[in-house]
Amino acid sequence: MMTQSVLFTPLTLKNGVTIKNRIYKPAMSETMGDAQYRPTQELVNLYGKWAEGGTGLLITGNVMVDANARGELGNVVIEDDRNLDRLKAWAAAGQKNGAQTWVQLNHPGRQAPKTVSKQPVAPSAVPLTGPNAFGFNPPRALTKAEIKAIVNRFAVAADVVQRAGFGGVEIHAAHGYLLNQFLSPLANRRTDEYGGSLENRMRILKEIYQAMRARVGAQFPIALKINSSDYVSGGFSEEDSIEVIHAMADLGVDLIEISGGNYESPVMQATTNKGAFFVDFAAKAKAGIETPIMVTGGFSSIAGMTKAVANHEAEMVGMARALALVPDLPNQAQAGTFAAIQLDHLSTGFPRLDKKVGSLIGLSYYELQMKRIAAGKPVKRTTNAWGPLWFAIREQGLATLKPRRG
Ligand SMILES: Cc1cc2nc3c(=O)[nH]c(=O)nc-3n(C[C@H](O)[C@H](O)[C@H](O)COP(=O)(O)O)c2cc1C
Repeated sequence: MMTQSVLFTPLTLKNGVTIKNRIYKPAMSETMGDAQYRPTQELVNLYGKWAEGGTGLLITGNVMVDANARGELGNVVIEDDRNLDRLKAWAAAGQKNGAQTWVQLNHPGRQAPKTVSKQPVAPSAVPLTGPNAFGFNPPRALTKAEIKAIVNRFAVAADVVQRAGFGGVEIHAAHGYLLNQFLSPLANRRTDEYGGSLENRMRILKEIYQAMRARVGAQFPIALKINSSDYVSGGFSEEDSIEVIHAMADLGVDLIEISGGNYESPVMQATTNKGAFFVDFAAKAKAGIETPIMVTGGFSSIAGMTKAVANHEAEMVGMARALALVPDLPNQAQAGTFAAIQLDHLSTGFPRLDKKVGSLIGLSYYELQMKRIAAGKPVKRTTNAWGPLWFAIREQGLATLKPRRG
């Protein structure tokens, strides 16, 4: 019989950085930035709770590199070191109890909703399609000079993250955001060196990694979150993804996180208990590289996570929504008081309304729980969707009924 202890063995990265166990919290946008896009005391409290709860690696919700390109209300933005003190407080809380906290850096590209952006920028002027498209203005294509400026923004932000005392950074190239748009042959129709072949489509990602590395040095972990596939016909495919993963591993990225989906095909938000979504792919992606892989999406049991690590399908396993419901889940697992969780299926009681606002409710429910944890209140579980729906409207206004992130 496999024991859960494999989950509680440390992982040492090639640069010598050690993560104390194999459980990580993937990025969950906390929407706790203030009106100046600064981290708040709420964020400090939340990360303190998670760090004390025993998770080895905490990846922050996506932090934007440009105040003019935000993914939603409540984002934190890092453009320079003007908020270094607040960032330091956040980093310190997230590194209690031997935990590591790494900051996920992102640019939304065309996935910037109307509520925050009149005209988003993207690799090409290709609008979003699908059921969520109505919430987004069509983007305009970036100039080459603007691409260079974005590369620089990621590097500047990584430098600030390091100086604030965080343990590392993660480049968000998944879930349909800007870097994923560059990788996608559907969203990227450029004819210059940033479009066309996969080599060209991954150029911006490589440039960002290299610019960051030049700033932060060899010892500071840089992770990459990438889709196994966009799950859109003709989009970024599994074969493409494996090529990008191998290229980024060769460049020296420290840890690669596998996810999938985007606003057009939000598979990462599934609540049906089909088990871990991307484990098979993670095992395939590992072949031929030494860079550790972490995988998130759909894990619900310690047994399932233990199996993935014990079978070498991934070096680390993540739980996002579960850790918003049980912030000390790893401590409980170690003490033997946690085995598995069933995520809540929320309903308004009106199936047609559920269909329309289901993904909003899904996110708001977890935002609400994160706010409760930050306020020192117990998590409040329910299957009644009206509470999270009112919460979303109260926090962000009616505009929140427009679709957001995944
Ligand atoms: C409220 C919420 C916010 C999220 N924000 C982000 C984000 O900022 N960046 C990101 O890469 N993924 C984000 N995700 C996706 C999660 O990292 C994760 O991939 C997804 O929830 C599936 O994992 P799970 O089944 O363990 O919840 C978010 C998910 C939720 C529920």
